[in-house]
Amino acid sequence: MLSRGEDYYYEVRERFNKSRNPLDFIFLNRSCFNGVMRFNSKGEFNVPFCRKPDRFRQAYVTKIVNQISQIRKIMHDKDWEFRVGDWRNVLENVTEDDFVYLDPPYIGRHTDYYQQWSEDDAADLVRIARDLPCSFAMSMWKENKYRINYYVTRYCDGLIERTFSHFDHVGATVNHRNLMQEALLIKPGYATSSCHTEQCPKAVHLQFNLDEVEHTATTGKAHSYCNSWLY
Ligand SMILES: C[S@@+](CC[C@H](N)C(=O)[O-])C[C@H]1O[C@@H](n2cnc3c(N)ncnc32)[C@H](O)[C@@H]1O
Repeated sequence: MLSRGEDYYYEVRERFNKSRNPLDFIFLNRSCFNGVMRFNSKGEFNVPFCRKPDRFRQAYVTKIVNQISQIRKIMHDKDWEFRVGDWRNVLENVTEDDFVYLDPPYIGRHTDYYQQWSEDDAADLVRIARDLPCSFAMSMWKENKYRINYYVTRYCDGLIERTFSHFDHVGATVNHRNLMQEALLIKPGYATSSCHTEQCPKAVHLQFNLDEVEHTATTGKAHSYCNSWLY
């Protein structure tokens, strides 16, 4: 793989577009250009290879394998159901035994969701989340060196905020790839007392320190309308 990484990448990409093997997808997602997820109009994954030197170094491969194995342990032996749908429909079925993790489109940033995600959606999401019978946590960008996210100040008042910084790789040009402060906004009463916060000049594996993760692991019940677990 080290000697023919790029050729191998395209081989797997072609195979994935025919077979949809999830393990192939993990490989592509971890070795494609900046971890971008993009499909063409035929539904084919079309992101090019990421030509970073030392792309498949042992430490990186080990990290991915460890992440998969951690998630596998959490998911093992539980009754999981995956649903694809509008978040409003998914949240209608939430009960008090659930924990909800929300990873919505980032409002106020140039993320292309075909203009389907408006400020009204973003405001509704946090309003409806506050009325849920259970706890929730929501990821959101907070600030970078140019801007502060007004959404957090305007709509997330009273939520517990845990912040951390990481390097944003997905900017269109190098100038747009900066240190970004992200926030995890948690329903009061459910956050742990301390949280590890780190400033890193490069990409990091984001890890949240929440009681609810334990809770989710035990009950196997979690509602998330997106599937975020690898960064
Ligand atoms: C920040 S991304 C989440 C990425 C995901 N956590 C992952 O790691 O792949 C936001 C996601 O919200 C989805 N989305 C946009 N509008 C939505 C809606 N009305 N209902 C449910 N999901 C929506 C987008 O398709 C996108 O995948």
